Amino acid sequence: MDSIALRKIARTMVAPGKGILAADESHGTITKRFQALGIESSEESRRRYREMFFSSSACAEHISGVILYDETIRQSATDGTPFPQYLKDRGILPGIKVDTGAKELAGHPGEKITEGLDGLRERLAEYYELGGRFAKWRAVITIGDGIPSRGCIEANAHGLARYAALCQEAGIVPIVEPEVLMDGRHTIDRCQEVTDATLEEVFSQLHHQRVLLEGVVLKPNMVISATDCPQQASVEEVATRTVETLRRFVPAAVPGIAFLSGGQSDRAATAHLDAMNRMDDLPWQLTFSYGRALQAAAMKAWGGKEESLAAGAEAFSHRARMNSSARSGRYESSMEK
Ligand code: 13P
Repeated sequence: MDSIALRKIARTMVAPGKGILAADESHGTITKRFQALGIESSEESRRRYREMFFSSSACAEHISGVILYDETIRQSATDGTPFPQYLKDRGILPGIKVDTGAKELAGHPGEKITEGLDGLRERLAEYYELGGRFAKWRAVITIGDGIPSRGCIEANAHGLARYAALCQEAGIVPIVEPEVLMDGRHTIDRCQEVTDATLEEVFSQLHHQRVLLEGVVLKPNMVISATDCPQQASVEEVATRTVETLRRFVPAAVPGIAFLSGGQSDRAATAHLDAMNRMDDLPWQLTFSYGRALQAAAMKAWGGKEESLAAGAEAFSHRARMNSSARSGRYESSMEK
């Protein structure tokens, strides 16, 4: 393991003023999102769509790294430059999603386990050759009646730690993503309880698997009220509870925490990140690794039309600028105009 290189990549991923663009939707997910807007999903339309982000001015300025899907890491920009090289030329680290999805966890109705460890060592070696310098693995924890179970949290944390150790062996920084879903009606208290238990187990498993904490980036959910919870916590409360949980369970050796947006509105995801970055004495960098909260407005503005690529790029650039400000605690809602 080249610990100096890993530390350097991890610090670059969470560099001041910058955050990560998650553009690693599987074919199924991106097709669903395209279809909802009447956009055709083909290899070429997905390539055009992703190039719209990578070529935008805001990408070079505010994005430290992009998480790609297997198809995209093998595609090229319109000028023929392979995407990993294209990103690198613009000072952006290429990343790659390496899990193979969350499947039903046997014996645990309603719960999931993320798969993808078989053959992962070989796949990581190939991704490194293709230019990948960081990776992502998403574990999913569902809150519901009597769930999550201990077995689900342990199995997912173990998978994340095994993945993280394999990444570091290959010279790739693992994004460790345990996502407690915001679907349902649960309160922010319940979200905090489950996020606490999850992070506690994740860092215990990372330690057991001898993962270098200085060479990982954590990608957690925020501590937040569920989408259908009648009492929605304020921006201040989400920020306070999230930082409280992180302080309790995330060692200061971790260089940075890059949140997922998880179904929050664009502006809520920005406002929450900003409120956290206004707090004093945070031991880690706090930034974004948003998918939907960076892409939704851009996808709509583009609409699959060649003549709207510039409008899509501008919609993305706006959100990237807003989140860059939030990442430094300098966002104001008046900047949205
Ligand atoms: P969202 O920000 O849309 O939750 O996506 C981030 C991500 O990469 C989920 O794995």
